[in-house]
Amino acid sequence: MSIFRTKNLDDMIAVARKPGGLAKVLGPMDLILMGIGAIVGTGIFVLTGTGAVTAGPALTLSFIVAAIACGFAALCYAEFASTVPVAGSIYTYSYATLGELAAWMIGWDLLLEYGLATSAVSVGWSGYFQSLISGFGWQLPVELTAAPGALPGVHTIINLPALCIMLLLTAMLSIGVRESARMNNIMVVIKIGVVLLFIVVGARHVTPANWHPFMPFGVNGMLSASALVFFAFIGFDAVTSAAEEVKRPERDLPIGIIGSLAACTVLYVIVSAIMTGIVPFKEFLGIDHPVTLALQKAGENWFAGFVDLGAILGMTTVILVMAFGQTRIIFAMSRDGLLPARLSKVHPRFQTPFFCTWLVGIVFGALAAVVPLNVLNELVNIGTLAAFSLVSIAIVILRKKRPDLKRAFRCPGVPVVPALAVIFCVTLMAYLSWFTWVAFGIWLAIGLVIYFGYARKHSALN
Ligand code: ALA
Repeated sequence: MSIFRTKNLDDMIAVARKPGGLAKVLGPMDLILMGIGAIVGTGIFVLTGTGAVTAGPALTLSFIVAAIACGFAALCYAEFASTVPVAGSIYTYSYATLGELAAWMIGWDLLLEYGLATSAVSVGWSGYFQSLISGFGWQLPVELTAAPGALPGVHTIINLPALCIMLLLTAMLSIGVRESARMNNIMVVIKIGVVLLFIVVGARHVTPANWHPFMPFGVNGMLSASALVFFAFIGFDAVTSAAEEVKRPERDLPIGIIGSLAACTVLYVIVSAIMTGIVPFKEFLGIDHPVTLALQKAGENWFAGFVDLGAILGMTTVILVMAFGQTRIIFAMSRDGLLPARLSKVHPRFQTPFFCTWLVGIVFGALAAVVPLNVLNELVNIGTLAAFSLVSIAIVILRKKRPDLKRAFRCPGVPVVPALAVIFCVTLMAYLSWFTWVAFGIWLAIGLVIYFGYARKHSALN
């Protein structure tokens, strides 16, 4: 049946390993930094506010639960990435293992994840941008500060800063990625710097009494917050997209994936403990720049300004990495014939997928302008949790179908670890709103229609 047809895995591996391809220059430290660049963003800088209101000081536990879910999925990801070290993401892996329909649905799901993540992070960026300019006494007209309905009781029309940053970064990506990658490294260092600065400065102002009661809304509150702040970990999978450029992918990819996840977990737990230790958690209600709010409450206005700036740069890197990943997945799907060929056309002068980059930038910039952050955030989470579950299942299938493949990194405890990954991910999904489930269902239904109406007929495998 054509929906189960696969691309030839051995050919793909041979192409990736053949000398003369992309330069193999990246080591484990590069990958960990790249992962942190993709991970630390709106999750820690913005969603911790809502998270604190939902879970109370137990937000630290929420982060740990979300990290465990990601950790199990990361082990499965790492096995995939070390077995099939080709550029692309789980879309590519699943095309070679699970068949065309599954690959299409995963790719379609990833479009939701990466695309809406760029929108969501742009909204977070906008909050900190407005906080920064307010330090200079400037303010945008309130109608232009947020999506309609984002601020209860306030008449807002459009989130203008979110739209502008998306278009600006789209312009950068569309004329050349090399420049963007160099800037990315600088911004990652600044981002880690301001998080450490917050920890050092904030720790002095913690009042342990604020941590009591620790779990005011019980386990349910803690898990609801976990389903929200799960967003903070999204991005570690971006490391796998560099697979073809890694010196020793079999060893370094797992180190990069798991290392960046572990580093971020430590940072998040410390930051959320300090935030809820400085400010009573209820005061984070409706705040879109909670990290600087904590510093302001502690009287550290000067450092707060620094953190605003660092958060802005930090979130910029996340948008760049996500938008880049998005265009490359569309590129791969288009090259395989599943999406129109125009989307994988390379610009003769800039050598980038110019049309595709602008299409994505405009669509998701517009969504950032008019959809509130909580809606975007939940949709991204459900898409990602579903993708992680699929990867975990896929790893078990691949072990059965192709036991002969060389696996430099083997996920320990198969099938228990993949099963735990699925259980954790599905549990977190269950804590998302019914609206999110319905919207996700509609998205998948549209995907099926496009597959049977277009993609199957135009597939390059025909
Ligand atoms: N993990 C990324 C962030 O929090 C998506 O911004």
